[in-house]
Amino acid sequence: MDFGTISRQRLPELLRAMPKAELHIHIEGSLEPELIFALARKNGVALAWPSVEALRAAYAFTDLQSFLDIYYAGASVLLHESDFEAMAMAYFCRVAADHVVHAEIFFDPQTHTARGVAMGTVIRGLARACERAKRELGVTSALILCFLRHLSEEEAIATLHDALSYREHFIGVGLDSSERGHPPEKFTRVFAEAGKLGLHRVAHAGEEGPPAYIEQALELLHVERIDHGVRCVESPALVKRLAAEGIALTVCPLSNLKLRVFDKLADHNLAELLHAGLKATVNSDDPAYFGGYVNDNFVAIFEALPQLGAAEAYALARNSFDASFVDAAAKRSMTAQLDAAFARFR
Ligand code: HPA
Ligand code: ZN
Repeated sequence: MDFGTISRQRLPELLRAMPKAELHIHIEGSLEPELIFALARKNGVALAWPSVEALRAAYAFTDLQSFLDIYYAGASVLLHESDFEAMAMAYFCRVAADHVVHAEIFFDPQTHTARGVAMGTVIRGLARACERAKRELGVTSALILCFLRHLSEEEAIATLHDALSYREHFIGVGLDSSERGHPPEKFTRVFAEAGKLGLHRVAHAGEEGPPAYIEQALELLHVERIDHGVRCVESPALVKRLAAEGIALTVCPLSNLKLRVFDKLADHNLAELLHAGLKATVNSDDPAYFGGYVNDNFVAIFEALPQLGAAEAYALARNSFDASFVDAAAKRSMTAQLDAAFARFR
């Protein structure tokens, strides 16, 4: 495809219009302050902030942990199946407007079961939203169950076993929460069991943690994608390996900015990753907390990095389909939609 005829000026419009898949979104991170307060009121849950404005003002993070403390407090308002459904429907409605055609969505069951919410309440509510998204919005989706890495592997194993009653509702497992001091190797057995069950495997690695954590995720957890992974560039051998094996990185630029992984977007290494032959994608991570949904991430990072143009926009959207866990026919169909969108801009 000839990308030369697409001017820089039209990039934001192209980025917003192109179909894309989102592969790194924590559904609890899509909970907007207004919905947090509405659910708190409905469910009689006390919050530490007096108003929506006060909560938003607290979103001044210094690192991953400072964010996670508020993120878990926000999730405490979720009690009923309908709450989980409402949260996920709000996300789907928002991203349908961003031309997200497919989403693979993380959820953190331990954040809820620890408060006495049943596993079935969480999964059934989210699954109901996924079905509605397909029917009402034409957006396909799948759920990925994440283990909280600051907790023990025994707790992760118990969580997996608890979730197996709802096996048909999720396609894989992931690893999130506090990265430093919680290496992937801690979860070797639970990921092996998930693999035997035919579940896909992904893990957050190389966001705040070192390249060695990415290597462990590949070697010991046998992951198919790395979430974040931006610190891979500190190991040229690892970059080579990720490129050779076609391991996708689900990169989240505004998250990296807000959690100070990079001081400013202009310092972000997305262009470097792509030009090293890595299968990078652009995602929102926790859009309600980091100041933007997936299109905001695309527009902001393309504005900050002059090395990114229409060819990279195409590559990023194409990578999002290639790296997704849908079948080959669905990948072809989404790629055809992408080609049609680009054809309209040439
Ligand atoms: N990193 C780790 N854990 C998370 C994140 C993240 O960016 N978002 C939600 N849980
Ligand atoms: Zn994440």
